[in-house]
Amino acid sequence: MLDQLKGLRTQALSELSEVDSLRGLELWRVRHLGKKSALIQILRSLATLPAEERRRAGAQANEVKTALESGLSEKERQLQEALLASPLKSRQLDVTLPGRPYPIGGLHPITQTINEICEIFGNMGFQTIEGPEVELEYYNFEALNIPPHHPAREMFATLWVETGGGEETTLLRTHTSPMQIRLMERERPPIRVIVPGRAYRYEATDATHESIFFQVEGLAVDTNITMADLKGTLLEFCRCLFGDERKVRFRCDYFPFVEPGAEMAIECLACAGAGCRLCGHSGWIEILGAGMVHPDVLARVGIDPDIYSGFAFGMGVERLPMLRYGVDDIRLFYNNDLRFLRQF
Ligand code: PHE
Repeated sequence: MLDQLKGLRTQALSELSEVDSLRGLELWRVRHLGKKSALIQILRSLATLPAEERRRAGAQANEVKTALESGLSEKERQLQEALLASPLKSRQLDVTLPGRPYPIGGLHPITQTINEICEIFGNMGFQTIEGPEVELEYYNFEALNIPPHHPAREMFATLWVETGGGEETTLLRTHTSPMQIRLMERERPPIRVIVPGRAYRYEATDATHESIFFQVEGLAVDTNITMADLKGTLLEFCRCLFGDERKVRFRCDYFPFVEPGAEMAIECLACAGAGCRLCGHSGWIEILGAGMVHPDVLARVGIDPDIYSGFAFGMGVERLPMLRYGVDDIRLFYNNDLRFLRQF
């Protein structure tokens, strides 16, 4: 019996060393430690042996059982560990691989243009400020000499936000000019500011008009500011942006909040002045309205028009890169087609 126990032990342990899965281990346990296993049978039969033999065989059998059990739990631990480690191993990080390229975004052409405009005027002493897009009717119209039934309201197809009902009437600003008033209410001359920002009009879009677009307002108020300062400043701006060669046209225009009023146009690049779809076959593209700040506007914000004068202008931003790069449709800027935007 002792020899048999020895054989059992050797056999079982050598089989155990071959086991490579938890399922295999369970089969091994049933075979060698299960109720019907040879070892358990021997342990059961011990009772039938004479006392002396039972003592020796019992000790031996128990020793074998303990050895098998500890072999079993050790093997189980090893298999569990391997199970945990294998996915980690297969997903190991290869630090020698090249990194993933990370595409770098760029500034939108309109943002680039606004930055450039602010820089050019900044070099001429203008400070950049911003203002609200949801604006009071008062700042967008009244304070700019456009009372409720003034025909000039026709120039600005307005998107209203809140009308009547005791509350103050609000709208989406139709131009950046309301910031002239907001600024002059809180600052005294000398004033030199530009105000970039969105403006909104309730209008159909076409190649040169969007219902949401950008403007840059300019305002200078001081003693002895004249129309010559206005012209000189805007000409310098155009030279910086388009070069000395590009033709610029200055004509009379009407805006209720300036007197006299003017309009500036740039020679169309698409057709070099010959006339095309982009410039409405005129050879020119209007980029801004301007003029001398109306004395009534100055008086309204408490700036004495007998001492001070000022000029103001409001330019459309999108048309500048259109003129510069020959983009023939303003809507391209807002379609978010990267093939277009990446060119800038
Ligand atoms: N706010 C005017 C517009 O949007 C432009 C303008 C600004 C004209 C300042 C004169 C002075 O059409």
